[in-house]
Amino acid sequence: MANVVVVGAQWGDEGKGKIVDWLSERADVIARFQGGHNAGHTLVIGGKVFKLSLLPSGIVREGKLAVIGNGVVLDPWSLFSEIDKLAGQGVAISTDNLMIAENTPLILPLHQDLDKLREEAAGASKIGTTGRGIGPAYEDKVGRRTIRVADLGDEETLDARLDRLLAHHDALRQGLGAEPIDRADLKSKLLEIAPKLLPYAQPVWKIMADARKAGKRILFEGAQGSLLDIDFGTYPYVTSSTTMSGMAASGTGMGPSAIGFVLGIVKAYTTRVGEGPFPTELHDGDGQRLGERGHEFGTVTGRKRRCGWFDAVLVRQTCAISGVNGIALTKLDVLDGFETLKICVGYEIDGVKYDYLPTAAALQAKVTPIYEEMEGWQESTQGARSWADLPAAAIKYVRRVEELIQCPVALLSTSPERDDTILVTDPFAD
Ligand code: GDP
Ligand code: IMO
Ligand code: MG
Repeated sequence: MANVVVVGAQWGDEGKGKIVDWLSERADVIARFQGGHNAGHTLVIGGKVFKLSLLPSGIVREGKLAVIGNGVVLDPWSLFSEIDKLAGQGVAISTDNLMIAENTPLILPLHQDLDKLREEAAGASKIGTTGRGIGPAYEDKVGRRTIRVADLGDEETLDARLDRLLAHHDALRQGLGAEPIDRADLKSKLLEIAPKLLPYAQPVWKIMADARKAGKRILFEGAQGSLLDIDFGTYPYVTSSTTMSGMAASGTGMGPSAIGFVLGIVKAYTTRVGEGPFPTELHDGDGQRLGERGHEFGTVTGRKRRCGWFDAVLVRQTCAISGVNGIALTKLDVLDGFETLKICVGYEIDGVKYDYLPTAAALQAKVTPIYEEMEGWQESTQGARSWADLPAAAIKYVRRVEELIQCPVALLSTSPERDDTILVTDPFAD
């Protein structure tokens, strides 16, 4: 039985939530494996909008098991406010349908403080983070001083963890001119949330192994996008986790053979939130039009997303790194009505042609995209549910994208609504 890993193939916000929601009908277990509540995944079901940050998108369907894996960084207060918000929308969440890996590191208010303090101190060279404490929380995990979910079960352990953590943070805060941490206050907040959180804590690696043995279908839900990957993204303008497909295994406690089909989510044009290089960014009316038609405002921070033409060089690169077997091409409808569309097919840097984005920041800063022009279409593709509903020029655009990125389209999305989706190849098929 094939499992499916969904990863964003650009700078995030490709429409992963919509596609995971659509696919989760065919899955038994839906697992998040990296990132935290910096993610904002939007689902639209019969006109009703759900915005998820930490909870796997499969949570809205009854009878599915949602899992938060050890690769995630978890803010428990944010988790419960998300659970409450969803309860208000009629989604019941309990230990029956949600499990959290007991070795998941926590995001604490001190991580958010540090995230913001650093961004302020950086001034013009800021990353443009979501301010959710993601980077500092991952630093503490790797620095072996984090507090993990299971640590909340024993006060002595918690005390020891707090000593180690605060020794580090108080020194940092002093350097940044901030007050030391109020240890008693933090400890009491943690002891207060512990009895709410601990019932969800499980050896997720074991639950995943059992699910696999029982032939259950697992859908892994990536957050962010490949160009925000800590190693392969546009460093340092990236997030602090591995956003590539391989992380699905280690971020839930499975071997790499558990990863079946890798589905890359690809927007029919390009967007990015926050700072950093963006070769095909548009500052003209076309860019404005993409932003308006695509409603390109961040789900988490409400920031305006930067918009540009489709960059086939970057998507070919990220599909190769994540071993993408097929893509879900989203927001094709946003391109309706353009006279001419442009696709970036290569770069020129100092007179030299490149068929990939080099790592050196000095080279990235000098990239000139090489464009190919394609004829647009005036018909509406919005809500199309079969190939037959697509104008010939739109099909030509999709085919050219496939050719350039060297990867086939498995799914096509033509509106935010769950069912406005065209299935070409079932990623769960063996
Ligand atoms: P994610 O972070 O990858 O899950 O994506 P977001 O939810 O942050 O942003 C994608 C936005 O595009 C959301 O508002 C979706 O409802 C919307 N969306 C998804 N697919 C389509 C599509 O095919 N067409 C249009 N017009 N909007 C879409
Ligand atoms: P989803 O899952 C788009 C961006 C931030 C910033 C950089 C680092 O909805 O696609 P962080 O807070 O992670 O340290 O910020 O990463 N970023 C995202 N951009 N979509 C996301 O998630 C993002 N999560 C983080 O804007 O540039
Ligand atoms: Mg998003």
